[in-house]
Amino acid sequence: MHLRSTKIPKDAVYHPVFARFYARMSVAAETRAGMAAIRAELLAGLSGRIIDVGVGNGLNFAHYPLAVSEVVAIEPERCLRQLAVRSALRAGIPVDVVPGCAEALPVKSEAFDGAVASLVLCTVRNVERSLAEIVRVLRPGGELRFFEHVRADDRAMAATQRALDRTVWPLVCGGCHTSRDTLAAIERAGFVVEEYRRVRMPEWGIRLPTSSCILGVARRTTVVD
Ligand SMILES: C[S@@+](CC[C@H](N)C(=O)[O-])C[C@H]1O[C@@H](n2cnc3c(N)ncnc32)[C@H](O)[C@@H]1O
Repeated sequence: MHLRSTKIPKDAVYHPVFARFYARMSVAAETRAGMAAIRAELLAGLSGRIIDVGVGNGLNFAHYPLAVSEVVAIEPERCLRQLAVRSALRAGIPVDVVPGCAEALPVKSEAFDGAVASLVLCTVRNVERSLAEIVRVLRPGGELRFFEHVRADDRAMAATQRALDRTVWPLVCGGCHTSRDTLAAIERAGFVVEEYRRVRMPEWGIRLPTSSCILGVARRTTVVD
């Protein structure tokens, strides 16, 4: 009898093809789509201990201000995590790359001054659970910096996003969804959204299902239910 070797992936997130695509595409987007400027704005003014959730290949690391004493960088996907470890070596601040998922952050409660979610709440399996975890690990008064692509304002694009989310998009884009109302989810999680702005990414050229983005700051209130 011929037995096929069945290799079962151990990782909670296993998207090796998308990971390799993202590793290349995201580097190009830094300059060509203006992502480097967005990352710099996202992280400006942060200080203390920061948890960055779903760091991918670690492109945020170069943009952390020197006032940040440590970044705990969570990444569940093995290939991207290896690239993040390399980025961490080049970062100007201490970065500890750790395997884990947003839905069950492998860190103590109230241990961080700030949390960062960039292009990740579109992909997590459970947005509510992930945001509850971010609330848990932030100290009272700690801040969440977010940059996420979200549901479009206009009906035609929102309908396209819904159709894509029900069919091919999550399959080919590593579990990503285009039509999530992430701002509402952040507010439902108990954060106070202090400021945000809508951003079109890229600013020029053809409009993509991921072009409607939000960039902002939300604060964990001092009282958690
Ligand atoms: C589009 S990439 C964004 C990476 C990075 N934050 C950035 O700004 O370039 C989405 C990332 O979320 C990670 N991811 C997927 N599911 C996750 C989960 N449940 N918890 C944490 N990260 C997750 C993926 O492995 C990937 O690195």
